[in-house]
Amino acid sequence: MSFFIRGFICTILLLLFTLFSTPQNIPKENMHCLKCHSSQTFTIYNNWTGKNEKRLMNPFYILDTVRLATGVHKDFQCIDCHSPDYETYPHKSELKLEPKSTCLDCHGGDDTFASFQFERIKEEFEKSVHFTTSGEAFTCSKCHNQHYYKPTARNSSNVGEIVDFDNAMCLSCHNNMTKYQLVSTHKNPQLVEVHNWLPNQALHFMHVRCIECHTEVIDSLMVSHNILPKEKATQKCAECHSANSLLQASLYKYKNIQSRTEKGAINNIISNKAYVIGENQIPLLNWLSILIFIATIGGIALHIVFRIMIK
Ligand code: HEC
Ligand code: HEC
Ligand code: HEC
Ligand code: HEC
Ligand code: HEC
Ligand code: HEC
Ligand code: HEC
Repeated sequence: MSFFIRGFICTILLLLFTLFSTPQNIPKENMHCLKCHSSQTFTIYNNWTGKNEKRLMNPFYILDTVRLATGVHKDFQCIDCHSPDYETYPHKSELKLEPKSTCLDCHGGDDTFASFQFERIKEEFEKSVHFTTSGEAFTCSKCHNQHYYKPTARNSSNVGEIVDFDNAMCLSCHNNMTKYQLVSTHKNPQLVEVHNWLPNQALHFMHVRCIECHTEVIDSLMVSHNILPKEKATQKCAECHSANSLLQASLYKYKNIQSRTEKGAINNIISNKAYVIGENQIPLLNWLSILIFIATIGGIALHIVFRIMIK
């Protein structure tokens, strides 16, 4: 009997959970759109046959509600950026040609967002290889999805998370032929081959951002946006693997990261000029290796002494 009661309570709890775990942060007006735009299939009423029909959703038009709910624009209604005509389905065909909102449409000249320096970022971006080769087709949204973007480098105190988030923007295209074709007519170069000269590639890509090597650091900007031609990319190991690592001026420059730990690795890098990235070894092993070294030298010396004595 108690088995059934427990089963019953569990079912109720599960129901409540699914009810409340459906994206709560998303404005409820958006649920109408998301009913179709967050699932693989959707149902429409067909006036011709008088029946409900199930259809497949274009995978590129499926939004991730979890990421929507954490993005900076989470409080927006879909129709703040998209035409209200989208309320009806089938969507009107001319909507295909609707100009999409750009960052500067809303953020340009707005003092509320002055600290982000949108105008300067635009200037820098327009000098980059992406803009000079692809032009207007390369919008800010090619890297920053307006549905999901959140300023990670500025707010996160976890270097790993920042590297992942930022590199995912580049890889979403450089590792994806379909998206690459939106802005280019040639094939995307294989990143693994291009970076063959770099030892421990996977480790590096987990610890440094693409932009570290591919942009020039500008002190007054949080994130450099000028992606330089490949000839100008950093290849010198010492730029990072030295006491004066360039990472101090880029990846590790945020106050939130610097103050994260009292004795953490990052803090060491910032405060201790003698710290060299990739060289923080275990002290005990250091001593052991010195001992072994001394023992070997001692051994050789003794050996020589004995040989001379025997002769
Ligand atoms: C009944 C399901 C359904 C509903 C509800 C719905 N859509 Fe769509 N939407 C689609 C489908 C399917 C497509 C793919 C293109 C097509 O069939 O028109 C699409 C395409 C789109 C596109 C891409 C258009 C393009 O070609 O670039 C946008 C943007 C869009 N919808 C926004 C919205 C918004 C905003 C809402 C809510 C106000 C909404 N949709 C509600 C099913 C729906
Ligand atoms: C802050 C503005 C903004 C909001 C809010 C917004 N969108 Fe979008 N949406 C865009 C932009 C810009 C694009 C074009 C992206 C591009 O250029 O790649 C787009 C593209 C789309 C597409 C086409 C798929 C694609 O990636 O090109 C769909 C579908 C869509 N939006 C649905 C929605 C729905 C549903 C909502 C509400 C939950 C919504 N959008 C809210 C700005 C917005
Ligand atoms: C339709 C207008 C609109 C568009 C388009 C738009 N934004 Fe926003 N954005 C806003 C508004 C309004 C806020 C403030 C939202 C809030 O406080 O809830 C905001 C917030 C932000 C924030 C957070 C600011 C803070 O103080 O924390 C960032 C970062 C941001 N947007 C970046 C972008 C980027 C990058 C783009 C282009 C890819 C973009 N936005 C496109 C209107 C827009
Ligand atoms: C080639 C990819 C790329 C393009 C194109 C791009 N950005 Fe960025 N942007 C980034 C990366 C990577 C970051 C760091 C993201 C993070 O961790 O917040 C960033 C960060 C930002 C930030 C947050 C800076 C801060 O101080 O926190 C803003 C604002 C921004 N970009 C605006 C723009 C605007 C406006 C455009 C178009 C003119 C643009 N971006 C085009 C890659 C790009
Ligand atoms: C340690 C520094 C470093 C890092 C990190 C790095 N790159 Fe590179 N990258 C280079 C150098 C140097 C070249 C030029 C290689 C050459 O010309 O032989 C290059 C070349 C390239 C090219 C040009 C390919 C071609 O031949 O046309 C692309 C695209 C590229 N990198 C993208 C990326 C992306 C995306 C990431 C992040 C996942 C990344 N890089 C991370 C240093 C780096
Ligand atoms: C929407 C797709 C897209 C995104 C996102 C993107 N790129 Fe690119 N990138 C391209 C294309 C296309 C080219 C080739 C341009 C050309 O030479 O025609 C390119 C070229 C490059 C080059 C080589 C420049 C040269 O001299 O040949 C580098 C380096 C590069 N990208 C780095 C990055 C980095 C770093 C990011 C992320 C911050 C990024 N890209 C994001 C599409 C993209
Ligand atoms: C953009 C900065 C940057 C550049 C350029 C760079 N590295 Fe690194 N490298 C790192 C970071 C960050 C790590 C992660 C180590 C850590 O967390 O202490 C690393 C790790 C390593 C490691 C592994 C060390 C360990 O502790 O396991 C080796 C080996 C290495 N790098 C060699 C090189 C060589 C050789 C070059 C030049 C061809 C180079 N790196 C260029 C930033 C860089």
